Amino acid sequence: MSVHSNVKRVTTHTLQEMKNSGEKISMLTGYDFSMGRILDAAGIDVILVGDSASNVMAGHETTLPITLDQMIYHASSVVRAVQRALVVVDMPFGSYQGNSREALSSAIRIMKESGGHAIKLEGGREVIESVSRILTAGIPVMGHLGLTPQSIYKFGTYVVRAKEDEEAQRLIEDAKLLEEAGCFAIVLEKIPADLAAEVAKAVTIPIIGIGAGNGVDGQVLVVHDMLGINNEFSPRFLRKYSNLFEEMLGSFQRYIEDVKSGDFPNENEQY
Ligand code: KIV
Repeated sequence: MSVHSNVKRVTTHTLQEMKNSGEKISMLTGYDFSMGRILDAAGIDVILVGDSASNVMAGHETTLPITLDQMIYHASSVVRAVQRALVVVDMPFGSYQGNSREALSSAIRIMKESGGHAIKLEGGREVIESVSRILTAGIPVMGHLGLTPQSIYKFGTYVVRAKEDEEAQRLIEDAKLLEEAGCFAIVLEKIPADLAAEVAKAVTIPIIGIGAGNGVDGQVLVVHDMLGINNEFSPRFLRKYSNLFEEMLGSFQRYIEDVKSGDFPNENEQY
């Protein structure tokens, strides 16, 4: 329960109860105060302050350039807006891969300076030591397997991962390792639906999918993609709930016309 309101907060335990009772978990990304308010008012369960901010907020081609300071800025803006949702913050590339000590100090900075409720990091066995060390400080950790965008230069493309048996087996093993280490949930990105469903059955913690089919415990999308703000991204897994690029474009064009014609402001819009 928040000290500031009577709204019952979503916690990592709430998510586990949701998995146990079969209630699906809703998660969307958010990067700023205004979007955080709307997402929370809508009743979203989890807001992910994703390192996709590097793409959709800063215009970078990949998620690699975003810094720890920038993630903390985005996360603290979202945290100030939220009364109910669980806020999970991505650890950016370079802030945890070096060693587990560095991983812990980056995670502590995120929790202390942003007020976020949990962190997410990419990878399986190669980050297990860091996951365990972060957990010893009482910081909840969400894993991320499958297509892990921070490794894009290793993969070479954003195509579906784990289609072959060997990679699929490794992914299942990694999910079990993350569960054993103490992660409270795992994101599975862009893998075959059958494999994702198998993972969701093989572990007891919630599995949240993006491009991973409907046999998992919850879904996540990048908010700019599902709102159609980013009109250049239309993968098969994306359902667009609005076409905000067109709607905003129209509003901006009408405003420009009104200013140029002298129609705005009118008598009621001045002092
Ligand atoms: O950064 C992000 O938006 C993510 C989601 C795609 C899961 O990690």
